Amino acid sequence: MTRQPNHMDDRYVTSEKYVTLKGIHADARRHLSDVHWNYLWCGTGDEVTLRENTAAFDRHLFEAPLFTGVSNPRTDTRVLDLDLSFPAFIAPFGGGESVFHPDAHLAIGRAAKAVGISQMVPVAAFHSLEEVAAASSVASVFQMTFAGDEGAVLDMIARAKDAGYRYICVTYSPIRQWRERMMEDRFSVRGEKAPSNFGEGKSDPAMLRELLDFTQPRWTWEQAARVIAKSPLPCMIKGVMSVRDAKASIDAGAVALYVSNYGARTIDRTPTTIDVLPAVREAAGPDMPIILDSGIRRGSDIATALALGANAVALGRLIALGLAADGEYGVRRTLELLKREFWTTLGHLGCSSPAELNRDVLVQR
Ligand SMILES: Cc1cc2nc3c(=O)[nH]c(=O)nc-3n(C[C@H](O)[C@H](O)[C@H](O)COP(=O)(O)O)c2cc1C
Repeated sequence: MTRQPNHMDDRYVTSEKYVTLKGIHADARRHLSDVHWNYLWCGTGDEVTLRENTAAFDRHLFEAPLFTGVSNPRTDTRVLDLDLSFPAFIAPFGGGESVFHPDAHLAIGRAAKAVGISQMVPVAAFHSLEEVAAASSVASVFQMTFAGDEGAVLDMIARAKDAGYRYICVTYSPIRQWRERMMEDRFSVRGEKAPSNFGEGKSDPAMLRELLDFTQPRWTWEQAARVIAKSPLPCMIKGVMSVRDAKASIDAGAVALYVSNYGARTIDRTPTTIDVLPAVREAAGPDMPIILDSGIRRGSDIATALALGANAVALGRLIALGLAADGEYGVRRTLELLKREFWTTLGHLGCSSPAELNRDVLVQR
């Protein structure tokens, strides 16, 4: 009997430079200075949440069934109106991402396009939002912090729309973070090139100063709701970590929830995203799209997140590692390896598509 070829090449022997994410991690470490490595890996305080973010995934075990007959699962999915070849977005990371590679989000966008997933682009990016959009048609979500002048925020959203972005990822940042590794290193991203979204012919640099200096009173839910209602692009809200904030985000007009503790970079001793996800899903109902990040390190983590209620994950540090290891190629291989491991996980769990993942695939304890 001849076997149908799998749609995804599953041979172990390949001429690719990277065959697992470990090789990418090792090359990234070799290429980055200690100071830049610390910038990538720093959490806040004692970094309790940083450690927990990955430990939480390890606590959720799979129950792989026998004789379920799935050998070639589909990995593709649709979140909002975005088609993804597997359930992942590039997380918006900026401020100093050019230390990983000078092509930064341009290289990331090209790699994301090659693999067929969507890219979120941060307001604090090294390249302007127009440059990133021009480099890749999958730059579909623009992340911006709601702070300062409401009119200036709306102007920037309009600018993102003109450049081709489809959604806004709203973030909130009330005060500076306590990142001891960076403090010990006396490293500040301000020493790096200023983000390109501000200045001559771009957006008002006062907005950038507000992002960095936290001079004005922070926005309230009422302000956020008012701007979301006027926004020419639909908004998702990032940083939802409780039932209270899930409900408030929906009331404020969010079209999707983004469960995130920012990779433990804002405040220590918060819960992990994977631990709050089931309650957030229950509060949000079955139809509200939920994206989750913080601690995704391999393809099987994506399956765990989906089994607990997420529609897709976002990838932060993993993408920075790929970028530091080998620019666009490093990011592309990171995505290919994640997708392939996710595919393998689906098959072992007896799921023919991501939509079939639910809590039954996890060992119930
Ligand atoms: C170096 C670095 C810079 C980041 N900059 C931003 C940013 O500008 N805006 C934002 O919303 N999140 C930012 N994040 C958080 C990521 O979007 C994402 O939430 C986080 O990396 C997820 O955690 P993980 O990478 O440990 O999985 C940054 C993360 C890192 C590692």
